[in-house]
Amino acid sequence: MIVAIASQKGGVAKTTSTIALGGLLADEGSCLVIDFDPQKNLSTGLGVKIQKGQLTA
Ligand SMILES: Nc1ncnc2c1ncn2[C@@H]1O[C@H](COP(=O)(O)OP(=O)(O)O)[C@@H](O)[C@H]1O
Ligand SMILES: [Mg+2]
Repeated sequence: MIVAIASQKGGVAKTTSTIALGGLLADEGSCLVIDFDPQKNLSTGLGVKIQKGQLTA
């Protein structure tokens, strides 16, 4: 199953929903979440530490 959560509008709970849905799916098996947002809130929200210069735009 592939799920995309997308909206041009900010602050509508895309990241929050992704973290919650990813957690639920991971409880049932395995789940890959992909963070395409340069703000990287999904990554930091999941506790991924990103060093300065590690990402390219
Ligand atoms: N169900 C909810 N109830 C209240 N606040 C929420 C809910 N879901 C998200 N938020 C808050 O709304 C804000 C924006 O959520 P976020 O997931 O970062 O939006 P987006 O990724 O679409 O920009 C955050 O401060 C988040 O804590
Ligand atoms: Mg977001």
